[in-house]
Amino acid sequence: MNTAPVILVTGCNRGLGLEFVKQYAELGWEVIATAREPQHAPELSALAAQHRKVTIEALDVGDPYAITELAGRYVGKSIDVLLNNAGLLGDRNTQAFKHLDFNSFEEIMRVNAYGPLAIARAFLPNILAGQQKKIIGITSGLSSITNTSQFGNLYFYRMSKTALNMGLRVLQVELREVGVKVGILAPGMVDTRLLRSSGYQGSGVLQVSQSVAGVIKNIERLSQSAEIILYTGETVPW
Ligand SMILES: NC(=O)c1ccc[n+]([C@@H]2O[C@H](COP(=O)([O-])OP(=O)(O)OC[C@H]3O[C@@H](n4cnc5c(N)ncnc54)[C@H](OP(=O)(O)O)[C@@H]3O)[C@@H](O)[C@H]2O)c1
Repeated sequence: MNTAPVILVTGCNRGLGLEFVKQYAELGWEVIATAREPQHAPELSALAAQHRKVTIEALDVGDPYAITELAGRYVGKSIDVLLNNAGLLGDRNTQAFKHLDFNSFEEIMRVNAYGPLAIARAFLPNILAGQQKKIIGITSGLSSITNTSQFGNLYFYRMSKTALNMGLRVLQVELREVGVKVGILAPGMVDTRLLRSSGYQGSGVLQVSQSVAGVIKNIERLSQSAEIILYTGETVPW
């Protein structure tokens, strides 16, 4: 009997994470959908009610104890893909040069850069037991040092995503010998609460369904690529 592939996704109560759950569930995957406060996630609850193979779990990705506790409950469970989607833009005002605030920096780094690595470490046995053996991090085009010239501000968010890229790049190197593929994927500019709170008012904004379909395609075809891969399959310079 063929069993469905399994994916664990973080930050599933809204935005891209919610859409990942929807599209993977529609593709027939078993989805472990984590959210910081599942009790306040009506759309995610509705998806789980609709799809038998969606399980909701509470997970604050900035809380190392919560990560360990959740992994402890999944010992022995194979997971094909770990999708680190949860991310925090933070308050724009505390990451403008004149108002830089260390507490805000620490929180954004904890969620965006440390969290995905801690989750990868905690769930590595599950990934190694899976068929596909993939660990994915959702980065941002704003992590690109080459493309930084376009505008200033958002110091902490940008630094955190550049740090995430490096963390995942090192993980790629470290885990390739055990057959794990690590992907660094950028979703494009997508109409979510995060983009709206960034103050961006330009053109080229995608709907979540379009971005997520593209990211899923690129997760499917993921190789041991040392690049940031956009939802279109194009690469973003480091
Ligand atoms: N939208 C874009 O244009 C864009 C572009 C590039 C990259 N991205 C990346 O895409 C990912 C998803 O963002 P989005 O656009 O869908 O934004 P969003 O609608 O703001 O969603 C962010 C998600 O992350 C979760 N999250 C934040 N802190 C968390 C924590 N400590 N523990 C668990 N979950 C936490 C949020 O949960 P709560 O509701 O509980 O806070 C929410 O589910 C992020 O990594 C973001 O950086 C987005």
